[in-house]
Amino acid sequence: MKAIEILSQEHRVILRVLTCLQRLLGAGKTAGHVDDASARKAIDFFRTFADACHHGKEEGCLFPKLVECGLPGDSGPVPVMLSEHDTGRETLCAMLEALEGAAAGDPNDLTAFIHWGGTYVELLRNHIAKEDNILFPLAARLLSDEDQREVLQGYEAAEKAHGRGTHERMLALADELCERYAVQSGDVNEFVSAAHGSCDGHGCGD
Ligand SMILES: [Fe+2]
Repeated sequence: MKAIEILSQEHRVILRVLTCLQRLLGAGKTAGHVDDASARKAIDFFRTFADACHHGKEEGCLFPKLVECGLPGDSGPVPVMLSEHDTGRETLCAMLEALEGAAAGDPNDLTAFIHWGGTYVELLRNHIAKEDNILFPLAARLLSDEDQREVLQGYEAAEKAHGRGTHERMLALADELCERYAVQSGDVNEFVSAAHGSCDGHGCGD
């Protein structure tokens, strides 16, 4: 499999877990508190699989190769994607900061968690759509088979650095969340729901 196809396949897994998160937020709004265990599993998945592993492969392997092959590093899609990765990290921090209170039913923390969770779902869906529809087709035209083989070797080194079994553990976590929230393989395009409320002033505490 080519380097770009692997990232596209990972997008499908991330989109399914985003639908899980969306349903978790809706359930939390109805119940007046969020399911702490499921929320922590979802955040673990997004921090480990979506950010450290998947965004790590893009930032450490694909994007540098695209710049080497002629894409600008300081304008256009590469810096936009990097900036969105940073925004995603900050949003996950804000979710984590509000989680304990949201799980205990604190109204302010619940509103904050639902707000930041909805923000994350929307951000990552739009981000993935840009990569799938614009950046990856561009990368497929720009990179030779040899370039893609080099990127692939970089992925293998990155996977090793994250520890053996991490990828499989994350896929199992995704399956567990999909079973919990009855998300099928095609459930990747639900519109961000009314659960996406409003809140201010919750930044990253890490
Ligand atoms: Fe991506």
